[in-house]
Amino acid sequence: MSIRLLNNKEEIPYNLLLLADETIEAIDKYISNSDIYVFESNNQIIAVYALLVLNDETIEIKNIAVSKKHQGKGIGKLLLDDCIKKAIEKKCSLLTIGTGDASFKQLNLYQKFGFEIFDIKHNFFVDNYPEAIFENGIQLKDMIMLRLVL
Ligand code: ACO
Repeated sequence: MSIRLLNNKEEIPYNLLLLADETIEAIDKYISNSDIYVFESNNQIIAVYALLVLNDETIEIKNIAVSKKHQGKGIGKLLLDDCIKKAIEKKCSLLTIGTGDASFKQLNLYQKFGFEIFDIKHNFFVDNYPEAIFENGIQLKDMIMLRLVL
C-alpha cells in the first residue's frame, strides 16, 4: 500500500473523485491546478485526494475519496494524515477543506482531526450544481468551510 502523486500522463480517477463531488464539471474547475495523490493497494487505485495551493500560506483539500468497498477501514484517516504532512512540507500554515451542511460523517471526521469551522458559503450547493444533492435525507445547501492551523 502506498500514496503517490499521480503523474500528468495518467488518467484522472474521476470515478473516485465523483464520490466526493457531484459532477465532472465541478471537478474540472479545480483538478487541473491541483496535485492529485492516489492510494494504491495491489496496484489498484482505491482512494484519492486533490490538494490546491490557494496562496503562500493556505492549501485546500479540494477532494478526498475512498472507493465504496474500502470505506470505513481507516484509509480516509491515512489520507488526511498525508494531506497534513504534504501541507507542512509545502510550508503552509493553514489547511482548509469544505463539505456539505448535511455531510455529518465528513464533518465529524474533519473535526476529530482538529479542523475548525471558519466560514459558510451560503447556497453553494444550490447555486453551483444543476440538481439538488441529498445527504442523510437532507438537501445540501451551504458549504461548511473548515481549517486546520498547522
Ligand atoms: N458513519 C459515521 N462516521 C463514519 C463512518 C460511518 N459509517 N465511517 C467512518 N466514519 C467517520 C468516523 O469519524 C471515523 O473515525 P473513527 O474510526 O475514529 O470513528 C472516520 O470517519 C474515519 O474513518 P475512515 O475509515 O478513515 O474513513 P474512510 O476511509 O471511509 O474515508 C471518506 C472517509 C473519505 C469521507 C470516505 O468515506 C469517502 O470517500 N466518502 C465519500 C466521498 C466523500 O464524501 N468525500 C469527502 C467529501 S468533502 C471533500 O472532498 C472536500
